[in-house]
Amino acid sequence: MKARGIIACLKRGLFIGVMLLLGSNLVWAAPKGSPWGKDYFPNIELVNQDGKKVHFYDDLIKDKIVAINFIFTHCGDSCPAETASLRQVQRLLGDRMGKDIFFYSISIDPDHDTPKVLKAYTEKFKIGSDSGWSFLTGSKKDVTLLRKLLGLYRDDVEAAKLSEHTTSFMIGNEATGQWVKRSPFDEPKVLAHQLGRVLSSFNAYHNSDLRAYDEAQRLPDMSKGEEKFRFRCASCHSLGNEEGIGPGLQGVTKVRDRAWLARWLKAPDKLLAEKDPIASDLFERYNKVNMPNFKLDDAEVEGLLKYLEDNDKAVKE
Ligand code: HEC
Repeated sequence: MKARGIIACLKRGLFIGVMLLLGSNLVWAAPKGSPWGKDYFPNIELVNQDGKKVHFYDDLIKDKIVAINFIFTHCGDSCPAETASLRQVQRLLGDRMGKDIFFYSISIDPDHDTPKVLKAYTEKFKIGSDSGWSFLTGSKKDVTLLRKLLGLYRDDVEAAKLSEHTTSFMIGNEATGQWVKRSPFDEPKVLAHQLGRVLSSFNAYHNSDLRAYDEAQRLPDMSKGEEKFRFRCASCHSLGNEEGIGPGLQGVTKVRDRAWLARWLKAPDKLLAEKDPIASDLFERYNKVNMPNFKLDDAEVEGLLKYLEDNDKAVKE
């Protein structure tokens, strides 16, 4: 009975998700007594990166707009990409973060991810403790229950390997009962728009970065390389000198050998494993964050290199 209830809820969630996508200007207020309220979400106890105890329903989601994902800190490729992408969304949301919008990254490996380990992780990704984004841990049983209720649990694959966990995450507004499943590879501007506008009331829509989204939506023709860069790389890299999670990439095609860059983009993990000196040095300098292996094919690598080269040509010496 319970399982059927969950499936029905997920189906309805999907329906609302589709409605939101179809009419992104639609303000969708859930009917009174929304099924995704207090009776649906458990009020389980979690502990944040500062060791503070909180309750999931009362403290984390009630009357808030939230993004909830599940991570583990010693995860290779997918979690750093996810964290970096959300970090960009966080920046776009500006002062809305911690006011009406909150992010929660909950560990699926609570034995390893103590509050102290989570705190170190936030420092690695330069996420301040007053930023409206908390990293949380709790009992394995509670966290698993939560993931099931949010439709983010895949017991078929996960039993074998933690790293196979789904990287999708939920964004939602508890008060209106709107919940949408998203992917960390959605463009940050799209996610910021969903959180800051679609899930909110229009009145709250005052952030200029979000307004710029309407412009961004009408993207001019983009090369394949630029498109890839925006979707996969821009969350960690600027095209200038500004440091992100990874180095600013201005000038990189001048200081590095093309063949090295191609090998790096194809399999950064492999170069690191081979103890390539440049890769090892960068890894140390950038807080030991693993650049994800996106399993790019040759054409995609070529497109990206061309895009980076054009970027470097455009810069005056
Ligand atoms: C999760 C963050 C992240 C993402 C996403 C990411 N990178 Fe990186 N990148 C890094 C980090 C961190 C380094 C530094 C080396 C390390 O720590 O592994 C790096 C290093 C690099 C370097 C070497 C810079 C140098 O000085 O030689 C290049 C080039 C690069 N990345 C390009 C890309 C491209 C292109 C993409 C998209 C396909 C991308 N990166 C996606 C984090 C990321």
